[in-house]
Amino acid sequence: MKQYILGIESSCDETSVAVYDYTDNKLLSNIVSSQISTHTKYGGVMPEIASRLHIEKINYVIKEALYEANLTFNDLSAIAVTSGPGLIGALHVGLQAAKTLALALDIPLLSVHHLVGHIYANSFEQELKFPCLAVVVSGGHTELVYMKEEYSFEIIGTTQDDAIGESYDKVARVMGLGYPGGPKIDKASKDGSPTYSLPKPHTEGKYNVSYSGLKTAVINLIHNKEQKGEEIRVNDMCASFQARAVGMIVEKVVAAIDEYDVKQVIVAGGVAANSYLRKEIKEKLNAKNPDIEVGLPPLWCCGDNAAMIAKASAYLFKNKMYASLDLGVNPNWSIEEL
Ligand code: KG4
Ligand code: ZN
Repeated sequence: MKQYILGIESSCDETSVAVYDYTDNKLLSNIVSSQISTHTKYGGVMPEIASRLHIEKINYVIKEALYEANLTFNDLSAIAVTSGPGLIGALHVGLQAAKTLALALDIPLLSVHHLVGHIYANSFEQELKFPCLAVVVSGGHTELVYMKEEYSFEIIGTTQDDAIGESYDKVARVMGLGYPGGPKIDKASKDGSPTYSLPKPHTEGKYNVSYSGLKTAVINLIHNKEQKGEEIRVNDMCASFQARAVGMIVEKVVAAIDEYDVKQVIVAGGVAANSYLRKEIKEKLNAKNPDIEVGLPPLWCCGDNAAMIAKASAYLFKNKMYASLDLGVNPNWSIEEL
């Protein structure tokens, strides 16, 4: 009999449910109900509003995912859910729905780390090859994760302050580009050149990055120009910020492959959709060592979604690593604590 996993993701501002055919390794549905239009009014994600919207949407999204997969509840073999890291109230909604389904259907519950989901999103494009270096770049995290083997995670570098996606969002906000800022800066940069001079932040540790100083430098430069009544070339400012933001992480990845003998480098998280990062990381790594494969997640699977959660749960399902029904959320769960 075929086995199907239903995945649920609600860690931030997308309510998402997917159905994954575990037997044939095929995604059957991936419904994403985004709250972005609501949060845009506030210039960022409002946690309390996010939880309420998840509550309103979750049951419909579950129904739709099953409908699109042409399955019923009784066809399911396991429920996978993001139990952290993320917004506490938002995570609770997905987890409670998952626990209720696992209890009622008497099938296993699988607890998935959100960033592991982002990493395994790559395997919709190509299988992961170990040892592997995962470049995790999202709105909440920026980490270089060394994976010696399947489901083993060692953080070898991290941000000392803001996450890269967070800095994109903050810089875009100052420039009045709206939320989320990443795609807006990505687009504007295409019509600009990195002509503004921005500082290169100092970091401790070989593979750490820092984004707060860069963000402050952009804000100060903009205020300075405004005070002098000088015009700000928005596209050039975006391109200058992006060149530094992406340049910094790519430089660390290039350095890390000297020390870590990896077969593959993969990019994961919302910022993996960034066109400049996708181009730069391929070019710089190929120039340094053409034997290392560079993997990028498909664009549809870069932002938060449940397909990546269901996909990442396959390893847990295979190894019968089931969660207990008293599972709670873990908003600050580190990927090293699996
Ligand atoms: O992974 P994700 O959807 O949510 C978290 O887990 O945080 O990442 C969202 C982040 C936001 O900061 C958003 O601005 C950024 O990813 N992002 C981008 C692009 N698309 C989304 N950043 C840069 N360029 C993009 N094209
Ligand atoms: Zn995410």
